[in-house]
Amino acid sequence: MINCSPKKAATPATTAAMTKETAQKQYTADQLASGQQLYASSCGTCHKLFKTEAFTDVKWHGILNRMIPKAEVSAADAALIRAYVIANAAAAQ
Ligand code: HEC
Repeated sequence: MINCSPKKAATPATTAAMTKETAQKQYTADQLASGQQLYASSCGTCHKLFKTEAFTDVKWHGILNRMIPKAEVSAADAALIRAYVIANAAAAQ
């Protein structure tokens, strides 16, 4: 039997696939700049604008999954916000 004990734990969340590094590679500087503007205009209305470096990429994914629906942005805008935040997240611990 070779498949009985998978070495890897189950993937925690699909979005966790995008790390700080992949976000920086996959999005252009223009897209990240748009994401920054959307972040500033959509994410500071209910509370202060959190510093992107305040959390790691993994932590941010969980937060964004809760906060993006609150911000009521389009799916395209949400993707840009996520890309900007993840690309500028704290270094993984
Ligand atoms: C409709 C109001 C509202 C909007 C818009 C909103 N938030 Fe929040 N946010 C909250 C509330 C309420 C809390 C505290 C309770 C909680 O954590 O759910 C919070 C908490 C947070 C926290 C702290 C979480 C933690 O675990 O310490 C972060 C970071 C955050 N929001 C980021 C964002 C980002 C990024 C956006 C834009 C996508 C956003 N928020 C948009 C209401 C909002």
